[in-house]
Amino acid sequence: AEDGYDLWLRYRPLPVAQAQIYAPHLTSVVAGDRPMLSAARSELQRGVSGFLGHDLPAATSIGDGALVIGTPAEQPAIKALNLPLSGLGEEGYLIRSVTVDGHKVTVIAANSDRGVLYGAFRLLRQIQTGQGIDKLDMADAPKIRVRLLNHWDNLDGSVERGYAGASIWDWWRLPDLKDQRYTDYARANASIGINGTVVNNVNAKALSLTAPYIAKTAALADSLRPYGIKIYLSARFSSPIELGGLKTADPLDPAVRAWWRAKTDEIYKAIPDFGGFLVKANSEGQPGPGDYHRSHADGANMLAEALAPHGGIVMWRAFVYSEHDASDRAKQAYNEFHPLDGQFADNVLVQIKNGPIDFQPREPFSPLFGAMPKTREMMEFQITKEYTGQATHLVYLAPLFEETLKADTFVRGAGSTVARVIDGSLEKHALTGMAGVANIGANRNWTGSDFDQANWYAFGRLAWNPDASSRDIATDWVRMTFSGDPAFVTPVVDMMMNSREAMADYMTPLGLHHQMATGHHYGPGPWVHELARPEWNPVYYNKADAGGIGFDRTKTGSDALAQYNPRAAKIWSDPRKMDERYLLWFHHLPWDYRLQDGHTLWDGLVMRYQSGVDQTGVMQITWTGLAPYVDAQRFAAVSQNLTIQRREAKWWRDASISYFQSKSGLPLPAGYTAPA
Ligand code: GCU
Repeated sequence: AEDGYDLWLRYRPLPVAQAQIYAPHLTSVVAGDRPMLSAARSELQRGVSGFLGHDLPAATSIGDGALVIGTPAEQPAIKALNLPLSGLGEEGYLIRSVTVDGHKVTVIAANSDRGVLYGAFRLLRQIQTGQGIDKLDMADAPKIRVRLLNHWDNLDGSVERGYAGASIWDWWRLPDLKDQRYTDYARANASIGINGTVVNNVNAKALSLTAPYIAKTAALADSLRPYGIKIYLSARFSSPIELGGLKTADPLDPAVRAWWRAKTDEIYKAIPDFGGFLVKANSEGQPGPGDYHRSHADGANMLAEALAPHGGIVMWRAFVYSEHDASDRAKQAYNEFHPLDGQFADNVLVQIKNGPIDFQPREPFSPLFGAMPKTREMMEFQITKEYTGQATHLVYLAPLFEETLKADTFVRGAGSTVARVIDGSLEKHALTGMAGVANIGANRNWTGSDFDQANWYAFGRLAWNPDASSRDIATDWVRMTFSGDPAFVTPVVDMMMNSREAMADYMTPLGLHHQMATGHHYGPGPWVHELARPEWNPVYYNKADAGGIGFDRTKTGSDALAQYNPRAAKIWSDPRKMDERYLLWFHHLPWDYRLQDGHTLWDGLVMRYQSGVDQTGVMQITWTGLAPYVDAQRFAAVSQNLTIQRREAKWWRDASISYFQSKSGLPLPAGYTAPA
């Protein structure tokens, strides 16, 4: 049954005519037997037997149509070819059609076993997307070094902001039971170049650092290692108190430092290739160095010191905002971190959410990007759709990721994009990273809906290459996951590409943000004003009153704009010239303000909610017409979600317009009927 378990690695039988074209190039595989090379070989065997219906035999001698895979160091045939591998780094690969001793073969060569593994998945993708494999000459290498999933998985099996069932980590039965799912998880991640995973929630419990849990984590690491995936842990800052019986977790206290060193050594004894720690400190109630009047740098550097001898890294999150700070929440992370530039140890990455607030349908890039040139800044995207329709709404997030990555910080002149900041090229940093908050759970289809698999897939592809196009990625994903028939691919890719804009329009048009209902963040709540902390209330962000709507972040307001390079700030400073999709993020404007298309702000706002709703109707029509190309099970699952999405888009529209109308006092524009 097509239940989505195979993700984009479906390897279904090819039509005979196509199989005949590929078969002569897939006669055997010549590979070494180190773990990652075996993983590469068995993936090729799995793929080929799926496509062609017969085995791909492992061979020791080279014949016509062989796949010869490996590194020059261990595979003599590859060494003899003298391939140009020097520019490919540790993780890149080269795939070429060549002749060896008179035999036409395909080589997948790399400097490391991991590179070979990535190359194997690349060759499979070539077949899955219907492209030729007879005259190959491809080389590729990742632009970002640390490409991670962040699981917000709790040790009790629940997942914070997870919409795909319980955690896939079965902590209860680990370390003895190693679920096949762990291997399939690793395969899927390796196929898109992800090379690490943080397995527990950033709201971490000290328990995860106890000996039994280290043993469980080590067993997980064993399952993931053959696919090049390293394990990382979220560390609770107060662990020395909770586990070590110390009176303090002050990062400058020698006993605290010694405790972390010993704990880190203990972890490395069990997991020699352990990646390092992710830390959420002094944020939303989590403990941190601020409890002892120390800085984030003091906290991060203490852990960095413990990890450095083992080659581990610290990812220190910049997602901080305080109840004691009455200024604009959007400014706080910058205010707290910017002065620390230059103080972080070499193995620390500061992990920054894409926008200054919290994973909204649309945010400008965080002003921290590019503002800390001496600091290794890494990206945190959210793959799980906390504020963006969770697992029911069909929303392809790659255009959102792409919009952030392509945004220009101007910190070193035009072209200083966020992508150049995080790939290290702008400030010449070698240690670089991108993290995505995972949307994976125990649901049969992994992500809670078929189309949410695309967000996991696209995240990996963008972490590998932050310059990749979200449309190209969607096209590959659709072909691999559903069908390569252009009559299916074109409309589905269009639907995916429009989906984020549709969602932004029916939830938070024109740059509105944080309008979601309290707690679960599902559905509208623009009227909410009674929560304990002002910055948790949607009214704090919409500031709608009889006079107008929007958050003034110019000089007359919070002046958050001043945190950007003046050239970047200029793009958003004049409401008449700017991209209006960011309008109310930066400006508070009267209801009768004229938008660029001549409509009043009030009328334009209503029309955008409506256009978001209209798009969901278009999506339904598109999908309905594609029934002949999709298996019944996945067709029905997607159809049902689209029905829910359309109903809830109307809910968003009607609830939001009703509330804002209670402020504006204005009638609906001509042609719009009152919400039914
Ligand atoms: C959001 C989310 C929390 C999460 C937090 C974080 O606020 O709602 O559940 O813990 O982000 O990123 O730390």
